[in-house]
Amino acid sequence: MVVRELKPGIYSVGAEDLDRRLFDELIPLPDGTSYNAYIIKGREKTALIDTVDPTKEYELIANLQKLGVDKIDYVISNHAEQDHSGTIPKILELYPSTKVVTNEKCKDLLIKLLLIPEEKFIVINDGEVLFLGGKTLEFIIAPWVHWPETMLTYLKEDKILFSCDLFGSHLATSDLYSTDEWKVYTSAKRYYAEIMMPFRMNIKRHLEKIKRIDVDIVAPSHGPVHAKPKMIMGAYEDWVSDNIKNEVIIPYVSMHGSTEKMVNYFIDALMKREITVKPFNLTKTDIGELAMALVDAATIVIASPTVLVGPHPLVAYATYLVNALRPKSKFVSVIGSYGWGGKMVEQITEMLTNLKAEVLEPVVIRGYPTEEDFNTLDNLADKILEKHKSMISL
Ligand code: FEO
Repeated sequence: MVVRELKPGIYSVGAEDLDRRLFDELIPLPDGTSYNAYIIKGREKTALIDTVDPTKEYELIANLQKLGVDKIDYVISNHAEQDHSGTIPKILELYPSTKVVTNEKCKDLLIKLLLIPEEKFIVINDGEVLFLGGKTLEFIIAPWVHWPETMLTYLKEDKILFSCDLFGSHLATSDLYSTDEWKVYTSAKRYYAEIMMPFRMNIKRHLEKIKRIDVDIVAPSHGPVHAKPKMIMGAYEDWVSDNIKNEVIIPYVSMHGSTEKMVNYFIDALMKREITVKPFNLTKTDIGELAMALVDAATIVIASPTVLVGPHPLVAYATYLVNALRPKSKFVSVIGSYGWGGKMVEQITEMLTNLKAEVLEPVVIRGYPTEEDFNTLDNLADKILEKHKSMISL
């Protein structure tokens, strides 16, 4: 990729990964991703903000060569995860006098994950500054963006916040800056949902801290740079808030059609009550879409047949993810069917211990749904509407 200048002396030197389709062997990447890294040239010192995934090491090195960087005084490591730190060892090999600047927790992880020698580090604390000559970096410790060691780096003179994963998006694009705001919003929401949602309360505190800083540009380590940070910051404010939407999401699987018949009827019942419904057929869905829907929905209704005396394994997987992602949903229920028996409801509800949600009376039937069963689904839809009305102004 080409080197691009953000402002005089500040360059984007990272790499786009257009073809990557899976992150952490778990998260689908429909639009690829990027590993952003930035060079800041001060009058006296040069700093590199984060590096790139080791698979793209050669691109970072090529960009540094194109830019004529013959000395890097500091690599600022905002986050120890390897998609940003993985090329630090190569940088230390090519630039032997470089020091790694980071916080104590991040240092500990980098030593363990990348075997970087302890003497290579300069440890900083929250609020400390580093002078490059006409460019001053201030470090903001922001633990649990999704790992415990995360921090942000603020370039004071240019009012640029290097936020690493925070405000980022898995979106490979030739645009340095965010131009298609809706696309970037959607990708950023998906990314927030997939890894940051469980740490919503920590991020809320970080946003309060950031509000006190004058930020012109947000330069994350994935996806485009935000030249108008209001959009992404406003979006995060909404996602981490306690606001929920009049929405029901239905992750479901059906084996022989009974659960599907119930789901289809239930979708209509909710729509008749003007509730937004987002069904996800788990045999086909992209789990990133499911995660994204979990950011706002007031209610989750899990729909499953009974197999091997419990929920369908795909439902168990989705339920595990829902529990791990800790959405702010307030209500949860289960619908589905069985042939001769089982513990499908118990097994699903026992997996949802992280949710602070009220369990609404499940609707689990034997065999194919009858008129009576549809009436019971109508009652559940009524109950959901009543609950939503009690918490959301409709
Ligand atoms: Fe993009 Fe948490 O690494």
